[in-house]
Amino acid sequence: MEKYILPDIPDLHSIAVYEANGGYKAFRKALGMKPEEVTDEVKKSGLRGRGGACFPTGLKWTFMPKQSAKPKYLCVNGDEAEPGTFKDRQILEFNPHLLIEGIVLAAYAMGITTSFVYVRGEYGKWVRMLERALADASSHGYVGDNILGSGFSTNIVVHKGAGAYICGEESSLMNSIEGGRGYPRVKPPFPAQSGLWGCPTTINNVESICNVPVIINNGAEWYAKIGAPKHPGPILVGVSGHVNKPGVYEMPTGLPLLEIIYKFAGGIPGDKRIKAVIPGGSSTMILRGEQLEGVCMDADSLKAAGSSVGTAGLIVMDEDTDLIQVITRISKFYYHESCGQCTPCREGTGWLWKILQRFERGEGRTEDIDLLMDIANNIEGNTICALGDAAAWPVQSMIRRFRDEFENRAKSLTMGSSTIAL
Ligand SMILES: Cc1cc2nc3c(=O)[nH]c(=O)nc-3n(C[C@H](O)[C@H](O)[C@H](O)COP(=O)(O)O)c2cc1C
Repeated sequence: MEKYILPDIPDLHSIAVYEANGGYKAFRKALGMKPEEVTDEVKKSGLRGRGGACFPTGLKWTFMPKQSAKPKYLCVNGDEAEPGTFKDRQILEFNPHLLIEGIVLAAYAMGITTSFVYVRGEYGKWVRMLERALADASSHGYVGDNILGSGFSTNIVVHKGAGAYICGEESSLMNSIEGGRGYPRVKPPFPAQSGLWGCPTTINNVESICNVPVIINNGAEWYAKIGAPKHPGPILVGVSGHVNKPGVYEMPTGLPLLEIIYKFAGGIPGDKRIKAVIPGGSSTMILRGEQLEGVCMDADSLKAAGSSVGTAGLIVMDEDTDLIQVITRISKFYYHESCGQCTPCREGTGWLWKILQRFERGEGRTEDIDLLMDIANNIEGNTICALGDAAAWPVQSMIRRFRDEFENRAKSLTMGSSTIAL
């Protein structure tokens, strides 16, 4: 299976090796195209964002005003703080020039003056690797003023976050870059109208941007034929949990989850049964092991199964997994990471975690199951950003698909005290 984002080429992080393997050819090609033709190719390719929401990338680019008295910005989202997600750092380590080439292509297409790559605070090593690659790209004339003598100029700034999941949300990310608190902004206005410092801004995930050179090199029609027709292209799937070979695997979209688990990730240790999987990072809805037959890693298939692709961070849990412990841990994360701006999320995430801890300790009550659902339903859709949804979906899906686990824990309590208050 051909790989385009993370090919098996030793030392590809070095600019000489990248160039020797066709690096920066897409950008040279694009310089012979009109900027809107580059956007058109990306649109026709069918590329959908790899940052979680699967939004069509080319369409997003068309929201940027063609003419603007203010500078236009691109924010490349490498915050990567969703539990179960660890694919963008592979790009920063093994193919950083693909990202840089994708950024200058995007900048050319949208008339961007400065791009910010926002990398999570914990990724010190990967920040340094990206900065090194960026210095090389600049000294080779691919970034900066009058790139390759074309008259086109654009800059790239690497910005290190301070370790907050909320700063991966696009409007918090912009506030963070501006030096403010990582609070999500109310939309509208949308970033393309008023983003960084009130200027037109596009936000794209690291992996999304890395698909752009692949599209420009090979053409939109070629790209659109890779994988699932409505969600095409190569995709990086990070597999973790109870598998023999956890890691990041590149594959076409649309492969069956079971093939990913057994062929790519080497199956389950001890040949145990799969009890559950979370297909796309901790915020996506959990699926029962028995329902995985025919479910594939693409937007339509996972939607039909009652979940979503998210960031394609596939978490596998075997038959011995304590799912109450899993959901309690996940809920603790969202409680900890809630920025506190919206009441339903600030209060509700803490309530979810507290009640789940009761179940974990064997002190949950049967009526707590509906209470959990009620709290999650009241968070979902009632917050400025999607962190509230991200906190609600795992709880809702865990109760819908594994109610028996909660009931069993609650039953063990009927013998003991059930008077623990919220
Ligand atoms: C709480 C929260 C955290 C997020 N974290 C990330 C992240 O780490 N990386 C990312 O690309 N998108 C993240 N997103 C999604 C971004 O807001 C945005 O949709 C994405 O960067 C757009 O890129 P794409 O269109 O290329 O997918 C997050 C969203 C929320 C609500």
